[in-house]
Amino acid sequence: MSAPDIAAERLGADYFQDPYSVHARLRAQRPVTPVIMPGGATVWLVTGYAEGRAALADPRLSKRMPGWHPEPDSIFATMDLHMLNSDPPDHGRLRRLVNKAFTARQVERLRPRITAITAGLLDDMAGQPEVDLLASFAFPLPITVICELLGVPAGDRDDFRTWSATIVSDTPGPEVFQAHATAMARYFMALLAAKRQQPGDDLLSALLAARDDEDRLSENELVSMAFLLLVAGHETTVNLIASGMLALLLNPAELARLRADPSLTGSAVEELLRYVNPVSNATFRCAAEPLELGGVRIGRGDPVLVSLSGANRDPARFGDPDRLDLGRDSSGQLAFGHGIHYCLGAPLARLEAAIAISGLLARFGSISLAVPAASLRWRPSTLIHGLEALPVRLVRAEGESTGS
Ligand code: HEM
Repeated sequence: MSAPDIAAERLGADYFQDPYSVHARLRAQRPVTPVIMPGGATVWLVTGYAEGRAALADPRLSKRMPGWHPEPDSIFATMDLHMLNSDPPDHGRLRRLVNKAFTARQVERLRPRITAITAGLLDDMAGQPEVDLLASFAFPLPITVICELLGVPAGDRDDFRTWSATIVSDTPGPEVFQAHATAMARYFMALLAAKRQQPGDDLLSALLAARDDEDRLSENELVSMAFLLLVAGHETTVNLIASGMLALLLNPAELARLRADPSLTGSAVEELLRYVNPVSNATFRCAAEPLELGGVRIGRGDPVLVSLSGANRDPARFGDPDRLDLGRDSSGQLAFGHGIHYCLGAPLARLEAAIAISGLLARFGSISLAVPAASLRWRPSTLIHGLEALPVRLVRAEGESTGS
């Protein structure tokens, strides 16, 4: 990064536990500021809403950063050539290949299946007085849905979860990172080879046809697409459901409001997105040419990180931003990003979260934290803001104890 006029502040591991107070302090100084991230990268961190929204839509901020991508013949290149790492025109070509499967209309057709998976998970939890809501509910729901959509065997998901958690973590160490990223790349290559032999009625089989019959994407683009859809499809919604439930448990008046009026679910999910920010910071962008943003000059080649959780708690955009208010107008929240990379899976994530949260509240008349809130830990990732675990006590809506 070019030497900034302003000294870069080093962010420590406490940033993962409470990014909000760090963003508030930085934003109050200036909305775009150089920082050294806990993983060691020096970046321009954008914590203001207006500046973040502008940056996400700025074509001068590119996703193909010279020197930031693996060598084309490296095994990691097989996971690098996806739409979220691409600029136009490749970005549009890749996104169009899968866009149809994720429209609100298409996703609505999944409602019965998502409802059935949710009901099964609720049944499983109903016999237990205390559960980890993250492992037993918030994780299995989106991973089952995305595995079915893509045609990925659900039995592989525990391996997949481990590799993926390492890849989005800031602190795995180079050896673990290499080992897990290699295992993930090999997994996808083997999966796609098996699907070539035996195609199914699923999205990956359709993409294989686009690759082999119509030549619309390269082999590395195909593997990268599978990687992106599976990681994006399960690392994110899990945190909307789990952190969203935690936010409701810590704000009992809002929880009571939602219980009293389930028609609030849609607006509640929007406010929970604004408030809990499953993706804390967008992915890195790089200045393809010098530009001004938020009163600072960003040099050519500098990395820029838009903090979505910073933008969503900017008091200049959302009044009293640290208050959860299910009735507020949360439109314009940036939890799904903005611009050409706006989340492809937003309709699916919204539907899953609405079904999950309303299902949970309808089934359990009382849900309470089983540990002190202060003991809950957040994962060491700059990208994902998600809990390690969420132990809760559940009591069935009929008033009988879950154990009975
Ligand atoms: C609550 C859940 C989710 C959140 C908060 C979320 C958030 C985001 C954000 C912030 C971006 C843009 C990142 C950037 O510009 O750097 C993004 C992109 C993307 N998301 Fe999601 N996501 C969620 C669920 C999903 C799901 C369920 C899928 C399903 C496959 C998905 C697939 C994608 C894809 C493919 C992109 C890249 C789009 C592009 O580059 O054009 N996401 N998501």
